[in-house]
Amino acid sequence: MCGIIGIASNKPVSINIINSLKKLEYRGYDSAGLATLINNFINEKKCSGRVDELEKILFKSPSDGNIGIGHVRWATHGVPNVVNAHPHSSKNVSVVHNGIIENSDELKKELELKGIKFKSQTDTEVITLLITEALKNSEPLVAVFSILKKLKGSFALGIIFKDFPDIIIGARRGSPLAVGFSNNENYLGSDSYALKSMTNKISYLDDGELCILTENSVSFYDSNLKKINKKIHIVSKDENISDKGDYKNFMSKEIFEQPITAKKCVNEYIDSIKKDINIYNFPLEPKKIKKIILIGCGTAYHSCLVAKYWFEELTKIDIEIDIASEFRYRNIKFNSNNLYIFVSQSGETADTAAALDICKKNNVKTCAVVNTIESTIARNSDWVLPIHAGPEIGVASTKAFIGQLIVLYILSLKFSSMREEIDKKIYYQKIKNLEKLPNSIKNTLLLEPDLQLMAKEFLDARGSMFLGRGCSFPIALEGALKLKELSYLHAEGYPAGEMKHGPLALIEEGLPVIVIAPKDKYFEKTLSNMQEVIARGGKIFFFTDNKKELISENIRFGLRITNIDNFLSPILMTIPLQLLAYHVALLKNCDIDKPRNLAKSVTVE
Ligand code: AGP
Repeated sequence: MCGIIGIASNKPVSINIINSLKKLEYRGYDSAGLATLINNFINEKKCSGRVDELEKILFKSPSDGNIGIGHVRWATHGVPNVVNAHPHSSKNVSVVHNGIIENSDELKKELELKGIKFKSQTDTEVITLLITEALKNSEPLVAVFSILKKLKGSFALGIIFKDFPDIIIGARRGSPLAVGFSNNENYLGSDSYALKSMTNKISYLDDGELCILTENSVSFYDSNLKKINKKIHIVSKDENISDKGDYKNFMSKEIFEQPITAKKCVNEYIDSIKKDINIYNFPLEPKKIKKIILIGCGTAYHSCLVAKYWFEELTKIDIEIDIASEFRYRNIKFNSNNLYIFVSQSGETADTAAALDICKKNNVKTCAVVNTIESTIARNSDWVLPIHAGPEIGVASTKAFIGQLIVLYILSLKFSSMREEIDKKIYYQKIKNLEKLPNSIKNTLLLEPDLQLMAKEFLDARGSMFLGRGCSFPIALEGALKLKELSYLHAEGYPAGEMKHGPLALIEEGLPVIVIAPKDKYFEKTLSNMQEVIARGGKIFFFTDNKKELISENIRFGLRITNIDNFLSPILMTIPLQLLAYHVALLKNCDIDKPRNLAKSVTVE
């Protein structure tokens, strides 16, 4: 993953580098570093841990220099320590890198045979040392260009040079790289968000392209080193997102913002006067769509899974879902009558972006359901449906998931109506129900004290299971994912009907088992599956919208979530699961906004 920044200015840059790195921490927070050029000397400062640490180092020993690069790391090659932190510098060159060099071992051996010594375990140091070698015979741009051909894998690079103190070179393949323009200052960054407090004028490098920045010029080059012009985009203003208000952390703020997220999303897509869905400009005429393929990773994949049930119930369209990292390597039979929908909060997830690229190469129609409208996935799709959740800072996705579900549900309803596959009365009733959703989410959040109590029961558990059927199955997966990523407690999500095919063997006396059972067509079946768990000693936490079934001596905890429409129950059932995971993590004193080993945006394969 990792985030990179570069600034060429007429004034010292280290403070702005630190501020931008704070914004890039969503890409990795294992270690951080920066390098500036001072009197033809590369001055490097690095630390393991967070940007706050780097800031402290800089406070004690300030680093001047009008040109510099910075990095936040999510470790791929080599443990997260100071030596492996970026930048990686030789006497002449300093490099920050986002991506993975797949043939680094091979290249390292070649360099070692020439007597060149390595300091770190990273793949990036290979780039530094290759450029250092190439600089012996060529000027910087040609040196960088010549070594890029040797690299396999993905990269976004920021490079500074001891003997060329006015320039930063940027290059990309696979990993995104933005360039920002201002007066007497130009920038490189992993995304426009990192640059927004300094400029709103942004260009994006395409694969294979390079750029050279000075304080008052930017030049772009294509993959043949031919000078090119790039379009300048004017991006939206910086949003102040650093304020947690009265909340302990961003995650709790984001959980409690969900009624607003839902309201914004519903208002955006539903015409409150006509009481109809206002989605237009379809890339494919809905009646002609043969198949919809929904693709995402992690939580976004779970929203695709839920959407599959909605589309299947409401339309006659064939639905397929896939995890992006699988899709990109499958032997897909593309069809121009199919619609490929990519779901991503960040819009920068490497696997999802790569799967989208494959679709583009096969000339099929694509749609992005994203939170970040200036992201790579949004820019590269034929059609964008924003979820309007606002910035999501907590690594565990909460309000973005709810936004994704709402947009996908609205889309399934719209398609169903345009294809004349839903009774008009039912369609309008469903729209009315949707308008009630923000308030229902608000009421569901009032259940927090119950979930605080339940959370205590997980403290000594060796693991846990989440069960559901139909639309509640993906919600069980999402509940389990939230619990494991936040509290590091082993959690498995299963379709309840699968238990007797293996997982039942895991049930032992006192194992917490969360059963998600709205009163839908699966309800009775789920109850039977629950009995099989009870018979083997599982400790049941029963989430339903049916009051009657709550009271049973075999149920350890029952929770009633008031429902307004069976199609909306996956959205409402998610809320208590988020709160449960949150409170278990809080009791275990975990780092809620930045869980160990994770990053908000997974920008490497
Ligand atoms: C969920 O809580 C995650 N942290 C993770 O699974 C995330 O949803 C996944 O990495 C996809 O990210 P995206 O939505 O930004 O593409």
